[in-house]
Amino acid sequence: MTTSALPFAQTIATISRLVTDPRLQHPRIGIVCGSGLSTLVSSLKDVVLLPYSQLEGFGDSTVAGQKSTLAFGLMGKDNVPVVAMLGRFHPYEGHKPAVVTYGIRVMKRLGVKDVIITNAAGSLTPAISVGTIVVIRDHLALPNLTGMNPSFGPLTSAEYPRFIPLGDAYSPRLRRLAFLSSHYLNFDSSALAEGTYAWVAGPAYETPAEGRFLRNAGAHVVGMSTIPEVVAAREEQLEVLVLSLVTNTVVIPDNYRSIKAEVEAELAGHPVELPPMATASHEEVLETGRQKAEVMRSLVERIVELVPAN
Ligand code: 6GU
Repeated sequence: MTTSALPFAQTIATISRLVTDPRLQHPRIGIVCGSGLSTLVSSLKDVVLLPYSQLEGFGDSTVAGQKSTLAFGLMGKDNVPVVAMLGRFHPYEGHKPAVVTYGIRVMKRLGVKDVIITNAAGSLTPAISVGTIVVIRDHLALPNLTGMNPSFGPLTSAEYPRFIPLGDAYSPRLRRLAFLSSHYLNFDSSALAEGTYAWVAGPAYETPAEGRFLRNAGAHVVGMSTIPEVVAAREEQLEVLVLSLVTNTVVIPDNYRSIKAEVEAELAGHPVELPPMATASHEEVLETGRQKAEVMRSLVERIVELVPAN
């Protein structure tokens, strides 16, 4: 795909036609809202909502709990202009990488310098409990290592580097502002953690063996989004902050239950009753998202207030 195949000019023209308030037309910060986290829109003043269906190049977000809207508005006490994606696109929905990353590239063309990307993720370690917000400092992207990097294929623009360095993908400057914001908001020290995000293609949740594999490889949380956006944002030379809300725990038993031993015990006249096995569910993910959306919203708002001067 070449740049000319992507309808940036039409998208930007549509946005300038529909967003008439000049204070909103050149957002400083871009935000991507993950599952259950679109309540962020209530932080926006003078908001203008553009459904993705009105915008060239955007797909249709098909995941329950996600809106499909681009929101322009002013945030925080200094009225920082921001653009927020309420709902994102995932490869597992069948969207091509060019669609998954399109919103990020549009943000760049609107003048955005910093992006704050949120998601819901599963915890791979007892050290990070449900409800924690993990400030991502590194990632482990199995799809990227196996030919599914969103930038795989011909360059989309002559200006993009062919080989994108990702060692510095997660801006220390923005991560610092996240922890400062948590302090200013009087959050408990356990509210925020630091960690590595494992990106899996989904849409199935991990098996215990897969969860153990990711944990042993050094990941702290796992999810099905965000990394294509991070790679595109780095290609576009944006600074990136990723905040993962831990919505559930990946079940990684130390030992498998032995059906063989259970059958032998049963045949010997000593049957054992075991509780049902816990598994991940989208309902649990959405419920924690609902409960913690306000924490995420206030954190992002406080970070946005700090970004322009820092
Ligand atoms: Cl447990 N796994 C994955 N892959 N994505 C998630 C999740 C788990 N919880 C929220 N998103």
